[in-house]
Amino acid sequence: MQKGTRTLSPSARRWLHRIASVLAVGTILLIAKGGLVHSAGAGLSVPDWPTTYGENMFTYPVEKWTGGIVYEHGHRLIATGIGLLMIIVTVMIWMGDSRRWLRWLSAGALLAVIVQGVLGGLTVLMRLPTAVSVSHAMLAQSFMLMTLLIAAATSPRWMKSDAPGEVQESSALQKLLLATVLFTFVQILLGAITRHTYSGMAIMDFPLNNGKVIPDFTSFGVMIQFAHRVGAVILTTMILVQGVRILRRPALRLLRVPAAASIAMVLVQFMLGATVIWTREAIVPNTLHVMGGALTFTFVFITYIRSVRYYRFAGDAENAAALRVQGVNA
Ligand code: HEM
Ligand code: HEM
Repeated sequence: MQKGTRTLSPSARRWLHRIASVLAVGTILLIAKGGLVHSAGAGLSVPDWPTTYGENMFTYPVEKWTGGIVYEHGHRLIATGIGLLMIIVTVMIWMGDSRRWLRWLSAGALLAVIVQGVLGGLTVLMRLPTAVSVSHAMLAQSFMLMTLLIAAATSPRWMKSDAPGEVQESSALQKLLLATVLFTFVQILLGAITRHTYSGMAIMDFPLNNGKVIPDFTSFGVMIQFAHRVGAVILTTMILVQGVRILRRPALRLLRVPAAASIAMVLVQFMLGATVIWTREAIVPNTLHVMGGALTFTFVFITYIRSVRYYRFAGDAENAAALRVQGVNA
């Protein structure tokens, strides 16, 4: 029997991975759809919850889906589908996978998606308060990471691989990969606060900031958006540095694709951010910028989890030994 399996047949295991992958990709698309709801100003086009204009949301007639209702109601329906997929994945893991951490991860993800649905409902009922909308945006991204880890951990490559391969690379690189994941969260949080305090136009030019390199901090909006712009420069630099280090190391084969994708995505995301400003928050670039945040997060996260699963960074001992030899010889 393969590691991590209990009672699932090989074909059920393949299905588990397929469904988990659809769940992860579907969550990224749902995040884009949520971004569309806000970008189109459609957050309150359905004023009630869990009903839709007093009717059962599943039987609400299609002819009544007009204007912003298409975005908001559609978002609720797709979210329900994601919730159902999460239930299926959790049940399959609890039935057929013996890895405790994975079982509890799936239970945690199920809880997260339930809380996320409630936050979505509350943000409507409370008329989009900043704290609830920001929490809804950030829990969406956190839930996405959970689904990505579940999809990765149920993949054939993950299950087959026994011990991580040793590479002569300092563990500082792996620490940088983790720091990049954490900083991406911070950067998206700064973006979400910018968005939900309606500070997107507090600085209306780019690359300057209200005509200056460092703007006058005349309002909270200027401060938070400037922080998000500085964060963008820091994050882009981190992703470039880790990417170049990985791409120069042929031994880190499994990190090459996600590292290269992270570089490409963060550069696109940077330009999308600029386009949001230049177009005065046009719906399409603004929605793509939310999705781009999710994709950047996806690629840096996959780079990190693969580094943990497939490699043991053994370069430190070698470096220390080299230093000791130098010390003895000196
Ligand atoms: C799996 C579940 C869900 C996920 C992953 C999700 C994700 C998102 C995301 C990423 C946004 C964009 C946030 C932003 O623009 O900053 C959003 C917006 C929104 N979501 Fe959800 N959502 C889910 C469920 C729901 C549910 C069940 C509702 C029920 C009403 C809902 C209502 C809304 C509303 C009203 C907005 C717009 C908020 C605003 O304009 O400030 N969501 N969602
Ligand atoms: C390169 C890394 C960047 C990342 C990862 C990133 C990520 C994000 C995300 C995910 C959001 C939406 C958060 C949410 O509510 O779900 C956002 C909002 C925003 N970002 Fe960025 N961003 C980046 C760069 C930039 C740059 C360079 C600019 C401007 C020049 C910018 C300007 C904005 C603005 C104005 C908003 C709020 C839009 C609104 O009010 O609707 N971003 N960012």
